[in-house]
Amino acid sequence: MAKQENNFYAQVFANNRKWIADKLAGDKDYFKRLALGQNPEILFIGCSDSRVAAEELMGAQPGEVFVHRNISNVVGSTDLNALSVVEYAIGTLQVKHVVVCGHYGCGGVKAALEPQDLGLLNPWLRQIRDVYRLHRAELDAIADAQKRYDRLVELNVEEQCINVIKTAVFQKSFLKDRTPSVQAWVFDMATGQLVDLHFNFEQRLEEIRQIYDLRPRH
Ligand code: CO
Repeated sequence: MAKQENNFYAQVFANNRKWIADKLAGDKDYFKRLALGQNPEILFIGCSDSRVAAEELMGAQPGEVFVHRNISNVVGSTDLNALSVVEYAIGTLQVKHVVVCGHYGCGGVKAALEPQDLGLLNPWLRQIRDVYRLHRAELDAIADAQKRYDRLVELNVEEQCINVIKTAVFQKSFLKDRTPSVQAWVFDMATGQLVDLHFNFEQRLEEIRQIYDLRPRH
């Protein structure tokens, strides 16, 4: 792949032709097989930030990861886009793991920490400000501004995992088949490392079900 430069756009179609040639050199039926269907093991919900190269940082190949990205990896309660992805990935593709992956240095989380009017972005960022409000005691006790920012990135990831757990499609699937798992990760772009926050989703599910239980009644 060509390095990202200012004239990257002009390179795209040439890069694509090279990619096709490389794939076919390794396996002449590569695209025939790719076209047959997908069976991804992971649903990855990440930030749209251009540096969060979802498949690349996991070493994933086409067909292995179902991906949804938006500003600050939010799973909103009325976001038809994110919820449709979760519904389809769990209900139809039957992924084994749902991953919410935030990243340190997230511009959306930073904007949510700074009171200002950003027009159409206001309702989106409010979802992250709501995470701040929910964890205000912990966050305000952190004196160092950078550490507080990093912690809000982590807490936002955990709250979005909780939003996945609140969905009916997750509850039905997990309570029946004990799958998928829900994982909270943070990508540290300063080192390239994926950090596992060891989110205990099974314990959180027990708490969530006390209020958000959506199993069908018979
Ligand atoms: Co971001």
